[in-house]
Amino acid sequence: MSQQQQQQQHNLLTPIMCVNADDVDSSLVLDYHHIDQKLLQNIVYDSLVWSSLHGLVVADKSVQSSGSVPGVGLVHAPISLLPTPFPESHWRQASELAPIFNELVDRVSLDGKFLQESLSRAKKADKFTSRLLDIHSKMLEINKKEDIRLGLHRSDYMLDEQTKSLLQVELNTISSSFAGLGSLVSELHRSILSHYGKFIGLNSEKVPANSAASQFAEALAKAWTEFNLPGAVILFVVQAEERNMYDQHLLSVALRERYPFLILILYNTHGITTIRKTLAEVDQEGELLPDGTLLVDGQRIAVIYFRAGYTPADYPSESEWRARLLMEQSSAVKCPSISYHLVGSKKIQQELTKPNVLERFLDNKDDIASLRKSFAGLWSLDDSDIVKKAIERPELFVMKPQREGGGNNIYGDAVRETLQNLQKAGSQEDAAYILMQKLFPKTSASILVRNGSLHKENVISELGVYGTYLRNKDRVILNNQSGYLMRTKVSSSDEGGVAAGFAVLDSVYLN
Ligand SMILES: Nc1ncnc2c1ncn2[C@@H]1O[C@H](COP(=O)(O)OP(=O)(O)OP(=O)(O)O)[C@@H](O)[C@H]1O
Ligand SMILES: [Mg+2]
Repeated sequence: MSQQQQQQQHNLLTPIMCVNADDVDSSLVLDYHHIDQKLLQNIVYDSLVWSSLHGLVVADKSVQSSGSVPGVGLVHAPISLLPTPFPESHWRQASELAPIFNELVDRVSLDGKFLQESLSRAKKADKFTSRLLDIHSKMLEINKKEDIRLGLHRSDYMLDEQTKSLLQVELNTISSSFAGLGSLVSELHRSILSHYGKFIGLNSEKVPANSAASQFAEALAKAWTEFNLPGAVILFVVQAEERNMYDQHLLSVALRERYPFLILILYNTHGITTIRKTLAEVDQEGELLPDGTLLVDGQRIAVIYFRAGYTPADYPSESEWRARLLMEQSSAVKCPSISYHLVGSKKIQQELTKPNVLERFLDNKDDIASLRKSFAGLWSLDDSDIVKKAIERPELFVMKPQREGGGNNIYGDAVRETLQNLQKAGSQEDAAYILMQKLFPKTSASILVRNGSLHKENVISELGVYGTYLRNKDRVILNNQSGYLMRTKVSSSDEGGVAAGFAVLDSVYLN
């Protein structure tokens, strides 16, 4: 920026928004909708430049081939212009839960009988769950052991306004997205506030540093090291069309580089090769050696990182299911294994909230109490009292099928209709769903930026906390809270997915 431009920019700052830099304090968090419009335009401009230069981008769906050819048709990721205020105490609470959930996932994954029994009714009602369980059964039959277990999770929470408590929305154990772009959004907000913070009363240091991308890369690298097969590669299992490919590439580049890449976020270097294949390609090019080694396209695979395979749409034919089974049978480290995948299902989330179930898996009473405190109300549809209540007051519930990837939940009047239809049908179909207490986070005034344009909206936010877990037999190598992701959406929207187009990427302003 020239000196003249800088001067012009500073002239745009209106007196009402000028805050003495010495006064910057959490109590001064302003109503973002009242920030001077010209100042906002400048911040938007700088944010879009920053995003473009640092790879905070997604494929632009209006450009053909942008989802398959990198470098073609990039657009900045949908973002919140400024970080959303979030209480520091709840932030700490969510962070401290991460290693406990990591351990819980690992313990539950080892109890094949619990997984099969808990999902047995859902299996009859839901074909996708049934296919996953079939693979799981086969692994139980051959007594397949996963010595090296890698979890890259994201536990999502809402701060419920009525109860003032931090409650878990769900735990993702497969394809937990946005470790890459989420780290960048935190960096963007820190950068923006370090420049403009003094004019709007915000302090960049109140945006916590976010090392999700480097920690995910490090966990994958450490799993590769444990596997200990020189020359082996990490396989990213991906969808053929992926608008969120740059979030994935941030991890693969971090794994590959031998020198610090994007100094801002990725300090560690690994020198590990990654390859990207769809499930169909794994079926065509994959081969299992007698010792269990997986070869894909002639390359030995140390770690399989799934960024596909979580939704029925990823399995259009038997070929994809064959690939999933082949990979599960191999000795490669799977992130996630079929067991870890199933632990993340909505039905298991609900089962874990029942009395005395956590006690089966965890020993530490304080840990159990902390987890339980974060559980929202969750019910199976064979609980007739709850079904009755949900038909009377559907707005207080969310109905969820055994699905991932957003856009599948049922809200409001549709909850009543669906429940009544299921009652009429009188079949086992109800086992495909669970009911969950609807959470109501506080709304705040926010500025969302999509496709280069600014939108002032009333929003609600959802905090995701990443967790990395790696163990080899009895040795726990990693069990960490690993960065975070704030997702913010218009308060009238029920669904929360960024990729699904409902929400924007955001970070946290601790207060
Ligand atoms: N109990 C709830 N109360 C309010 N909103 C909810 C609740 N459960 C889910 N949502 C909203 O719906 C979104 C999707 O729900 P959920 O995370 O359970 O589904 P998913 O398909 O696994 O999504 P994802 O792609 O994020 O993994 C959440 O991000 C949240 O915004
Ligand atoms: Mg999910």
